[in-house]
Amino acid sequence: MARLTDATRGRLLFGGDYNPEQWPEEVWHEDVRLMREAGVTLATVGVFSWATLEPHPGVRNFGWLDTVLGLLHDAGIGVCLATPTASPPPWLGARYPETLPRDETGATVWYGSRNQFCASSPVYREHAARITEDLARRYAGHPALRMWHVNNEYGTVCYCDTSARHFRTWLRARYRTLDALNDAWGTAFWSQRYDSWEEIIPPRRAQYLHNPAQRLDFRRFTSDALLECFTAERDILAAHTPGIPVTTNFMPLFAGQDGWRWAAEEDVVSVDIYPDPAADPSDLAGPAHGALVADLTRSQARGPWLLMEQAASAVNFRRVNRPKPAGQMRQWSYQFLARGADGLCFFQWRASRQGSEKFHSAMLPHAGERSRTFQHVRALGHELHTLSPRLAGTTVPADVAVLHDWHAWWASEQPGRPSSDESTAYPRLLATWHRALWEQNLTCDFAHPEASYHGYRMVVVPQLYLMTDAALDRLTAYVRGGGTLVCGFFTAVADGDDRVRPGGVDRRLRELLGLATVHEWWPLQPGETVPLDNGATGSAWSEDLELAPHGGPSAPAAEILARYGGGELAGRPALTRARRGKGTAYYVSTLPDPASLRALLGEAARAAGAGPVLPQAPLGVEAVRRGEALFLINHTRQQVTVPLHHPHTDLLTGRAVTASVTLGRHGVAVLTPTPKENRTCAEGVSAP
Ligand code: GAL
Ligand code: ZN
Repeated sequence: MARLTDATRGRLLFGGDYNPEQWPEEVWHEDVRLMREAGVTLATVGVFSWATLEPHPGVRNFGWLDTVLGLLHDAGIGVCLATPTASPPPWLGARYPETLPRDETGATVWYGSRNQFCASSPVYREHAARITEDLARRYAGHPALRMWHVNNEYGTVCYCDTSARHFRTWLRARYRTLDALNDAWGTAFWSQRYDSWEEIIPPRRAQYLHNPAQRLDFRRFTSDALLECFTAERDILAAHTPGIPVTTNFMPLFAGQDGWRWAAEEDVVSVDIYPDPAADPSDLAGPAHGALVADLTRSQARGPWLLMEQAASAVNFRRVNRPKPAGQMRQWSYQFLARGADGLCFFQWRASRQGSEKFHSAMLPHAGERSRTFQHVRALGHELHTLSPRLAGTTVPADVAVLHDWHAWWASEQPGRPSSDESTAYPRLLATWHRALWEQNLTCDFAHPEASYHGYRMVVVPQLYLMTDAALDRLTAYVRGGGTLVCGFFTAVADGDDRVRPGGVDRRLRELLGLATVHEWWPLQPGETVPLDNGATGSAWSEDLELAPHGGPSAPAAEILARYGGGELAGRPALTRARRGKGTAYYVSTLPDPASLRALLGEAARAAGAGPVLPQAPLGVEAVRRGEALFLINHTRQQVTVPLHHPHTDLLTGRAVTASVTLGRHGVAVLTPTPKENRTCAEGVSAP
């Protein structure tokens, strides 16, 4: 199996999607010259080039790609070569309409855009395999080839008849018998019992609410069907080039793929992200989201990974698309570098003059090499070269794990729950809890609930509505063995089939938390809050809890950390803490206001022996350790001064930093502790 280091060769990668098929050959020479000037080391070529490579069924047009790869290689630029299978040519859909996806109503999703393929279509798969095979055969051994990029942002969902048949095959493998399926789906409800496999269909448009277990399985199936497309191409590539790593780029915190399963099939994990530069700069939600995406991708990779796509400035898919103010592209890039990326890449190298993304920014925008954007890109490329020897391949230590599971997410998105208000949405809860850790620079990884998270000092569960027996056993063993758990509401309510656990909440979790019963889930109205008697305010949710009585030395009664201070549940427990075995389990039955959630997690972490990277860093200054480097990133609108307790060296300038470092708006510093023998007396310094 190839590895990321086979692609990076010990250097940080810098570059972007390169679509030379949109340009005449003269331009390619200018591209390569300017790429060199910008310090580009990796160009992702061919992502949407199927119709150029195969203009007519079976015809191969590789000449242009030979030239492009040759030019890049001569310039010392590595190539991440893409299989073009995300966007089949019109001829495929026109000749083989069964390759086109159908929506829930059965309507065809046509060509003329991109991503119009049915993952279950054998015809699509066959054509994708052939072009992949020919690409691999032709470019195996090409000296420019560093990495393979399969498809692009997989995620197309299809409800067609072919997908229905494939879904049945998937279900047979999962359940073996129709009785088992009927049991798992609870088809006794509403007379939904299936009498034969052939009757089973994707959750197509229906009269009223769908069977939730059917919907859950269809999401699992869709992720797996797409994954089969990925692994089929990967295997073809790996057979020709065993030493060249294979990736496919994820969308950030994307619901359509089981990101744990997918990452396990990749040699290199990579992700794309497009935050809105116009987001309210006094709100830290934007940078918090960036940190979450970086932490999640690092956790999926279990080590370094790549930022495959970001915008050099504006995007084109929002209603109003603002450019990034000076410094913001650099700042957001450093966030990904700090949190473990071994490469920073963009969509795309040169702005397109035609097509629906012609107003999307690029490393080389329409305004050309004199543009502000190109200057910023070039400056970043040069900084990466400076930092590369110290950072490439290094990792980010974390003491805290946040449990995350796509299946729990899918199950929690079903209609017909106690609350379908946006305030209770899974990704929102995940982001809110992660943000409370991030804002105090408590570095965390994400972990699958059935994975081994046992080296972490604290495990946080914002919400896992669905939990398998294996996950519950692991969590119980973790706490009893000395771990600290902080658990959010509406967790372990359903089993792996989305069947409600006896008692409403799984018995193992109740015992761990010291709860006898959750009498009622008591969701709050949109915008409604409830006071707690410790000064905190809850929103989104509350619960009518009954604590278990003292159950002997192995199960002492839980302590009440706060009670509801108003509303229907006034006086009843809201936040609790139980000692179990050598460990501790907190329960949080509402969503505390941000400062209170921060305080709760901060105190629990401290008690568990986990601390912030830099306790003196003010709110809005991100501090992360990666390898021997300390990154400081200013997300506030003002200049900030961060005191330092030891002398450091600024890795970008080589200058000594002693008492403090001052960061301007969007400012970033990358420091390393100065060894004792090299310390001189210097003043605080400013970093741009
Ligand atoms: C990504 C996609 C790119 C480009 C980009 C624009 O999602 O992979 O091909 O469309 O968005 O922001
Ligand atoms: Zn289909």
